[in-house]
Amino acid sequence: MSRKLRSSHWFGLTDRDGFIHRSWMKNQGFPPDVFDGRPVIGICNTWSELTPCNAHLRQVAGRVKRGVWEAGGFPLEFPVMSLGETNIRPTAMLFRNLASMDVEESIRGNPIDGVVLLCGCDKTTPSLLMGAASCDVPAIVVSGGPMLNGRFQDQTIGSGTSVWQMSEDVRAGKMKAQDFFEAEQCQSRSAGHCMSMGTASTMACMVEALGMGLPQNAATPAVDSRRYVLAHMAGRRIVDLVKEDVRISHILTRQAFENAIKVNAAIGGSSNFVLHMLAIAGRVGVKLDLDDFARIGHELPLLVDLMPSGKFLMEDFYYAGGVPAVVRELGDRIHRDALTVNGKTMGENTADAPCWNREVIREIGNPIRERAGLAVVRGNLAPDGAVVKPSAATPLLLKHRGRAVVFESIEDFKARIDDPNLDVDENSVMVMKGAGPKGYPGMPEVGNMPLPPKLLARGITDLVRISDARMSGTAYGTVVLHVSPESAAGGPLALVRDGDEIELDIEFRKLNLCISDEEMARRRAAWVPPAPVASSGYQRMYIDHVLQSHQGADLDFLVGCRGAGIPRESH
Ligand code: FES
Repeated sequence: MSRKLRSSHWFGLTDRDGFIHRSWMKNQGFPPDVFDGRPVIGICNTWSELTPCNAHLRQVAGRVKRGVWEAGGFPLEFPVMSLGETNIRPTAMLFRNLASMDVEESIRGNPIDGVVLLCGCDKTTPSLLMGAASCDVPAIVVSGGPMLNGRFQDQTIGSGTSVWQMSEDVRAGKMKAQDFFEAEQCQSRSAGHCMSMGTASTMACMVEALGMGLPQNAATPAVDSRRYVLAHMAGRRIVDLVKEDVRISHILTRQAFENAIKVNAAIGGSSNFVLHMLAIAGRVGVKLDLDDFARIGHELPLLVDLMPSGKFLMEDFYYAGGVPAVVRELGDRIHRDALTVNGKTMGENTADAPCWNREVIREIGNPIRERAGLAVVRGNLAPDGAVVKPSAATPLLLKHRGRAVVFESIEDFKARIDDPNLDVDENSVMVMKGAGPKGYPGMPEVGNMPLPPKLLARGITDLVRISDARMSGTAYGTVVLHVSPESAAGGPLALVRDGDEIELDIEFRKLNLCISDEEMARRRAAWVPPAPVASSGYQRMYIDHVLQSHQGADLDFLVGCRGAGIPRESH
């Protein structure tokens, strides 16, 4: 390898600065020859006990290190901000961009030639990819892997999906509170992230479909020994990627993004996929817009029968063949010559991928549902678009017209939804404002508003729900999300009033507020923007700079690749 590595600008110096860079590192007991010019591999770790889905990642990092040492590299593990979906408030999405800045600056500022990205819980994957993409260094993602299937009272229960179901059952008086409590442990019975096709699993599948992870990165359970083999192999491979100078931009091409959109349709992936893909594409400089998701993905069928759209879980998906089996099934719809991090093309990686269970992964000629990819709707209620996940929706509601029941915020919703006098019926359209990127701030996962108890008691299980919020990837329902522009930015969503008629038509991609242009203009003239939720600190910076959801909700000044040039000396 004749090329000079980044790390040589630290460890290869023979002057006082070289002494400083090496000497302090030697306090960790590294022998002198590790500074001999071998590739330095950063292991970017989102381990945290506050991120339970990633709490096992230090063990995974240990396996990556084994592989790096074996291949002649020098592994150095470093922590970055970790985002645990279940604990962090007001919402992990608020901090995705902050974590990506941490990743970007940690890579660029340190003697790192290539990086292994360890992630799992929802936002940890896009934040690491965004940060690394803005540096454009060689990189491999190793996901932490899903938890084992949940089992409760001899039933399979899935992360999140079953929580939404059981909590509705408790509210409807069909489940005892004590049973609900007991189900907590039964749902989460091993290390790993959510094992339904929620956002974490969707992100792990995205990584594999983009070519940024080794085959079977997505589905191998966290506690399966093969997860450790995969981490070990990733450690070996990243050293080669550095030697070959295969950088993220060589893998994350337009073809790779198109592959990921198609795979996401076939697996019934989370609606959050859209936001994260747009943001990652923005960092690496690939042109991708909201309509690409509808154009490329919507016509594709749903092949994988996983919760929340179906009944199985990631453990079953792994045993059935995982992402390689899905890619093989998609055949020529996939760009088979797209390069992946193991040095082979997507086609080479999946040409002989077996499927062991046709209940879990269907054949293309026998899908679970036709035209199941994420749908993008537009109209006078969402001029810049909104997103619907048809595979998680009630087919009959995909074309619907009904009267709006409006909630001005999530707090307003919580205060009134249980009121028996709430004027709502099975034809109503529930609308919530103030949950977009700027308004909340950070777009919380509250778009799947729970139904009013009086309708649940009558056996009603779904209503059309519309908001500028996101929805957990584990959730389901006829939920229109990411309405753009958001209400706090003056989008038409801000102008909806109780009793207005709203028309949704997924087939014709429509979302309209059925009022006249004159009435719309009158309401707009009277609209008063809400005061920003924060007046200082990170939240204020976020509010001032966050892009709207149809642009991926990145911060405007973070879009783009700034490379990994060598920064000036620190002393
Ligand atoms: Fe971490 Fe679902 S809460 S992946």
